Amino acid sequence: MEIDVCCRICSGRLEQVADFGRQPLSDAFRVPAEQRAEFFFRLAVGVCGSCSMVQLMEEVPRDRMFHDGYPYLSSGSSVMRAHFAGFAERVMSEWSDPFVVELGCNDGVMLGNLARAGVRHLGVEPSGGVADRAAAQGVRVCKEFFESGVAERIRATDGPADVIYAANTLCHIPYVGSILRGVATLLGPEGVFVFEDPYLGDVVRLTSFDQIYDEHFFLFSAGSVQRMAAPYGLELVDVERLAVHGGEVRYTLARKGARDQSAAVRELLADEAAQGIADAAALRAFAGRAADTRDRLVALLTELRERGASVAGYGATAKSATVLNYCGIGPDLIPFIVDTTQAKQGRLTPGSHIPIRGPEAFRDPYPDYAVLFAWNHAAEIMTKEQEFREAGGQWIRYVPEVHVA
Ligand code: SAH
Ligand code: TYD
Ligand code: ZN
Repeated sequence: MEIDVCCRICSGRLEQVADFGRQPLSDAFRVPAEQRAEFFFRLAVGVCGSCSMVQLMEEVPRDRMFHDGYPYLSSGSSVMRAHFAGFAERVMSEWSDPFVVELGCNDGVMLGNLARAGVRHLGVEPSGGVADRAAAQGVRVCKEFFESGVAERIRATDGPADVIYAANTLCHIPYVGSILRGVATLLGPEGVFVFEDPYLGDVVRLTSFDQIYDEHFFLFSAGSVQRMAAPYGLELVDVERLAVHGGEVRYTLARKGARDQSAAVRELLADEAAQGIADAAALRAFAGRAADTRDRLVALLTELRERGASVAGYGATAKSATVLNYCGIGPDLIPFIVDTTQAKQGRLTPGSHIPIRGPEAFRDPYPDYAVLFAWNHAAEIMTKEQEFREAGGQWIRYVPEVHVA
């Protein structure tokens, strides 16, 4: 049943465009003996008729997702380490003696670079375990959820920020109004708020429906971000397409009137308008393609099981929770998934209860097929696992559609 839900940005009415059913917390990997019932919520997507923001219909309380046991480690990919080092380099070349604040600094993958270079910085990271890892490499970090009150305190103790940065974090935050109020408080007059998140245009184009899960509350576009920023005296002044994580956009906000809007913003806005990027009909068509992917993936895995082929999963990603639970795939179709994250190994995937093993289990012996759940790291993983292919193994991908390669 559809119920009336209001937009978290403008209180407009949401129109539901996709429903991925009952889903568990995507990063809640269970120990096999655990007796406690799992937490489930309804993963459905709506689009606001007023401001066009695409968002989840139901919010998961933040403390259920982000806590001391939060397992995701940003440093787990060498491509991402280089990506964040590149951002740090850019900040250091564009600013002299800046104060940089990062929201969701995780294990310090970006701020570690600034800390080593002696740049004044502060990370705000509520998940205690990953924040401790950041601190261990010399990052100054406070273990809190960033919101407007925290911004006031930082402004009072440290002064204004030149750069506020948030990677794969702003889209996790339904109470984004409090974040933007905080940014408006903390940012210096010439400062910038830079954030990067999965791009609605890429998700729809690639039918990467697994970008939708509890933590990914918003799917941003240039148009919706521009409208979201305005009430806080902030303007969208630049956008940059990023190839990482399956297609993202890096948005730069500045105080109204402080900077000119770049041609890239105008081009992306025009492109989005021409495509009708947030049209409810286009989003419903996307949901239809996701259902096709589900049917084809289940059919393929069922056929492989009947043929007696061996299959493993690669990457116990948060994204995979949506795929596994939406498709109803369990250990009967994928007996195990390998992942480099120690905190995930020996545990079970949420909802679908597939055992997770270390990467050494992959080659012991190689399976006939491997489902690449960490498809956003395809180049890095396929290079590292070249021998799998040489041994006759084949990758199963489901983005942009189900294919074997
Ligand atoms: N920036 C990293 C981490 C992304 S994961 C990267 O791009 O890889 C999202 C992170 O945001 C988590 O570590 C989570 O604990 C953190 N987070 C969630 N809500 C937050 C908030 N209100 N303020 C700051 N960090 C938050
Ligand atoms: P990622 O796709 O970055 O994010 P999310 O969990 O939000 O969907 O997660 C990648 C996962 O894949 C992470 O658990 C680490 C794992 N991984 C490997 O096992 N081997 C690898 O070579 C890489 C790059 C990642
Ligand atoms: Zn709205």
